[in-house]
Amino acid sequence: MNSLQSSFLAAAPVANPAASGGGVRLAAPTRRARVSACLAVPPPPPTGAVSTGAPRELSAASRAVIEDEARYLVGTYNRSKVVIVSGRGCKLYDIDGREYLDLAAGIAVNALGHGDPDLVAASANQAATLVHISNTVYSQPQVELAKRLVETSFADRVFLANTGTEANEAAIKFSRKFQRVAHPGGDAPVEFLAFSNCFHGRTMGALALTSKSQYREPFEPVMPGVTFTEYGNVEEARKIIRSGKIAAVFVEPVQGEGGIYSATKEFLQGLREACDEAGALLVFDEVQCGLGRTGYLWAHEAYGVIPDMMTVAKPLANGFPIGAVLLKEKVAAAISYGDHGTTYGGQPFVTQAAITVFDKIRKPGFLAEVSKKGENFKQLLRTKLSGNPHVKEVRGIGLIIGIELDVPAAPLVNACLDAGVMVLTAGKGNVVRLVPPLIISEKELEYAADVIRDCLPALDVSAS
Ligand SMILES: Cc1ncc(COP(=O)(O)O)c(C=O)c1O
Repeated sequence: MNSLQSSFLAAAPVANPAASGGGVRLAAPTRRARVSACLAVPPPPPTGAVSTGAPRELSAASRAVIEDEARYLVGTYNRSKVVIVSGRGCKLYDIDGREYLDLAAGIAVNALGHGDPDLVAASANQAATLVHISNTVYSQPQVELAKRLVETSFADRVFLANTGTEANEAAIKFSRKFQRVAHPGGDAPVEFLAFSNCFHGRTMGALALTSKSQYREPFEPVMPGVTFTEYGNVEEARKIIRSGKIAAVFVEPVQGEGGIYSATKEFLQGLREACDEAGALLVFDEVQCGLGRTGYLWAHEAYGVIPDMMTVAKPLANGFPIGAVLLKEKVAAAISYGDHGTTYGGQPFVTQAAITVFDKIRKPGFLAEVSKKGENFKQLLRTKLSGNPHVKEVRGIGLIIGIELDVPAAPLVNACLDAGVMVLTAGKGNVVRLVPPLIISEKELEYAADVIRDCLPALDVSAS
């Protein structure tokens, strides 16, 4: 088999439970002033007043920031033309005081929304106490966070990094080291298996595991030895794993960036069995789908399949940079002093923040609420968007939901932004990704569903 085989098949959507539901009709919002009642749902706007045409004119203040960004920053981001300056609950405010309902949460990051009082207090206190100390000494918040992660998961140990891609980079290294220790004769498998539509990050190892060729090709050679196959195709995966060359299989139980595709139990179970037979490691990337987003603490709990390693990041400290690898003892035992490390990983400031986030997500009833809100929202969207010919499918689990369209989603995403609701794209640009703060209310979700429905004509304007 080729060491770098990127000719993977397009993923077929994996089935999600069908649903239906009822809904009420509202229209898109008009421009609103800054409000202090942060969690109040905006008043329903006049029926039919939908912005689907030309984008709003920029204020001088917005223009100044946007022009300076273009002048001083590397052009790596194709940003929406909005300058966000503050947030409260699930609301964001731009430089002109305009309010937005946040269904992006960064990109699935701000699980507790913006300005959570417990997080603000814990962070302020830790900032005044100790922000950083190097990993040459011990730090209590670091150990406390690791203890929580271990006690609530399959894992025995944790490595703390700073981002999702770094967590995956660490998991790549741990996989190779595990195999080297397991095969002292020098015949250790060193290759990796990943899947169509997957996203694992932008550093050279994680990038090599990322399926989208546009992300990879300009930077090749990336880490060699990665095979891609179709997400959901357990037979193909099994054949590749059985080759004996695979050190580890990286898979997202729910693909976020790739377009909100959920794995099936059979697929993850099949990977588990094949890895066990071949001695390969199974790594779940829960950077986007983990930590409550699916309504389960860990997304794989929905499947009852246990990995050897799991990477998490985005919501762990609600926006302060952090990443983590959770490992079984058999993998951790292969790692020695000096094998891996990072200056900032696990520093007291970010780990104290993560403890606060984690404890809130673990509060009784929190996850059940995420499940309930997610299911209701999905059903509401299916009902409200159903007659539109551009809407092919509404799918997802918990509060990671995708609306697949038969046209590019950008005009709809822009119209929603103009109407005061922030959403994202995913997949091949044809999926609207909804990953709101997990604290969002049913009322806010209903409001968002109305705005999305009322902005759908933007798809016709752009198609004509
Ligand atoms: C599943 C998954 N893995 C890894 C990453 C990379 O994380 P980061 O952007 O923090 O490096 C992402 C980011 O979107 C992701 O969704």
